[in-house]
Amino acid sequence: MAYKSFILVCAGTGCHSNMGEEIYNELVKAVEAHNISQDVQVVKTGCFGFCEQGPIVKILPEEAFYVKVTPDDAPELVAEHVVKGRQVDRLLYKEPGMEKASNKIDDMGFYQKQFRIVLRNCGFINPEDIDEYIGRNGYQSLGKVLTELSPDDVIEELKKSGLRGRGGAGFPSWMKLSFSKGVTGVDQKYVVCNADEGDPGAYMDRSTLEGDPHSIIEAMAINAYTIGADKGFIYIRAEYPLAIERLEVAMKQARDYGLLGDNILGTDFSFDIEIRLGAGAFVCGEETALISSIEGKRGVPTPRPPFPPVKGLWGKPTCVNNVETLANIPVIIEKGGDWFKKIGTEKTSGTKVFALTGKVNNSGLIEVPMGTTLREIIFDIGGGIKDGKKFKAAQTGGPSGGVITEEHLDTPIDFDNLVALGSMMGSGGLIVMDEDDCIVDVTKFYLDFSVDESCGKCSPCRIGGRKLYDILDKISKGSATAEDVDKIDAIAEAMKKASLCGLGQTTPNPVLSILHYFRDELFSHINEKVCPAGKCKDLVSFSIDAEKCIGCTLCARKCPVNCISGAKRQAHEIDQSQCVKCGECFTVCKFDAVVKA
Ligand SMILES: Cc1cc2nc3c(=O)[nH]c(=O)nc-3n(C[C@H](O)[C@H](O)[C@H](O)COP(=O)(O)O)c2cc1C
Ligand code: SF4
Ligand code: SF4
Ligand code: FES
Repeated sequence: MAYKSFILVCAGTGCHSNMGEEIYNELVKAVEAHNISQDVQVVKTGCFGFCEQGPIVKILPEEAFYVKVTPDDAPELVAEHVVKGRQVDRLLYKEPGMEKASNKIDDMGFYQKQFRIVLRNCGFINPEDIDEYIGRNGYQSLGKVLTELSPDDVIEELKKSGLRGRGGAGFPSWMKLSFSKGVTGVDQKYVVCNADEGDPGAYMDRSTLEGDPHSIIEAMAINAYTIGADKGFIYIRAEYPLAIERLEVAMKQARDYGLLGDNILGTDFSFDIEIRLGAGAFVCGEETALISSIEGKRGVPTPRPPFPPVKGLWGKPTCVNNVETLANIPVIIEKGGDWFKKIGTEKTSGTKVFALTGKVNNSGLIEVPMGTTLREIIFDIGGGIKDGKKFKAAQTGGPSGGVITEEHLDTPIDFDNLVALGSMMGSGGLIVMDEDDCIVDVTKFYLDFSVDESCGKCSPCRIGGRKLYDILDKISKGSATAEDVDKIDAIAEAMKKASLCGLGQTTPNPVLSILHYFRDELFSHINEKVCPAGKCKDLVSFSIDAEKCIGCTLCARKCPVNCISGAKRQAHEIDQSQCVKCGECFTVCKFDAVVKA
């Protein structure tokens, strides 16, 4: 059936949990009420990326981009836009500061500098319909590989492409496949998709799986053919129920179409996949821990070598790849390694998906060519800093990474440049901070995470991480000394050298990074006992300026511990011995009478 119009409803986790299902149902009802179901199809798609503006509904062929849609808006969208051809202006996305709505994705600042390879199908197809994936060239690469290319040809194409693993380490993907392929005389090999994604704030892999699960299945089958495996596992955390559900639907459809199972596409190649659920421990994303967990053992890392491509699951060659890495593979086979190599930088080709969050106007999921600068990401795509505040720093690489400051905003982002700045690409979490964020406080958050997530197997990580956290805590309380800062270097050195896995080896990174870039702010906590951003509770006090206070009583009514006294229309006062420094009085006072110092 040829439809004249498509109503695409975002069914990514953000929009889905914000009445997405109800919006979809109301749109279907409205289409039926107008008796136009034969001409108009309502489709659930993956995340459009611009989650900040969700729930999002896009109508084709006009490409009208409707934001913050509610179920109540559905009848109007159908009656006005679809039936009468009149766009519903009040729901169209308006660029900040612009009068006129941008009604096409290509006109929107958020999308203009993006380039989508990994997210190519997210927001375009129904992830639960294999035909829609096939309609966008899906499974063509698998067909090509099985009928035209030898395993060495696939490796050669990936080598040409320069694809490096997106799970954090940036290891050349072709090399890993070639190690596994090179092992002979074994009865079994495996491919594994690492969908553990434990970094705080990161949801790139989850969205890719939710929006385009077939691309991962296709890539795993290509990898399996290349190394000679007939079995694959997708290791995914149980907190991702929507992604798991969509993967299960996609795997069943692929089996029904003869794209998974025995003798795929009538060839000698047989391959199938099982899903394994992780309980959500960060360390289980580390490949040796992940392998232990799939084997049914406790998910703790083991020493390498042997490396998994040679000796992995149950001692057999196992190629573990990240979701984003995999999503690139069918496109590289389809368009060629040379095409891919032209995108990005000399040493890191292709694109990177980032979860852009924090104090930025347009937060969401973005995909940009490697080499895009942080300035372009934050100011062009992200629409700048919220509430006109000043940019302070961006944290990349999550708990393994570090901060990037204003002076490095124009550095082209790739694996090597970020490491040179003392940070990391990590899996792609990118958190923007403004002048109100305290660098010590943010770093404490990451250290706390790493300490909590350490599996405890080796003492440099188990003890070192705790010690680092204690020092940071002392700094934030104003009770640290300069000697404590010296200790950080010694502990960091020991952790980097002696920890068994990447978690312990990278735990000191955030604190080393701020020591390098925010020494002054760190020492103002230590020497002057001042937190310049006013965040560290022990170093902040609130008082009321009697000159400005008009005695409106709002602060006293809001104070959770009733420690503000004063009669109506008379200056109020805070009992410092009772104040818990929640800052509520500072936030609510309309006369700037509450002073934070
Ligand atoms: C503590 C820790 C957690 C990790 N978590 C993940 C993860 O959630 N997802 C992932 O793909 N890789 C993760 N990695 C990296 C994996 O060990 C491995 O390098 C990756 O899965 C390889 O795939 P790639 O070559 O496609 O990047 C983690 C590494 C460490 C040290
Ligand atoms: S470095 Fe940390 S997380 Fe890794 S094995 Fe040692 S204790 Fe466990
Ligand atoms: S900071 Fe919180 S606890 Fe202290 S006076 Fe203000 S409202 Fe009360
Ligand atoms: S979840 Fe809907 S736009 Fe991201």
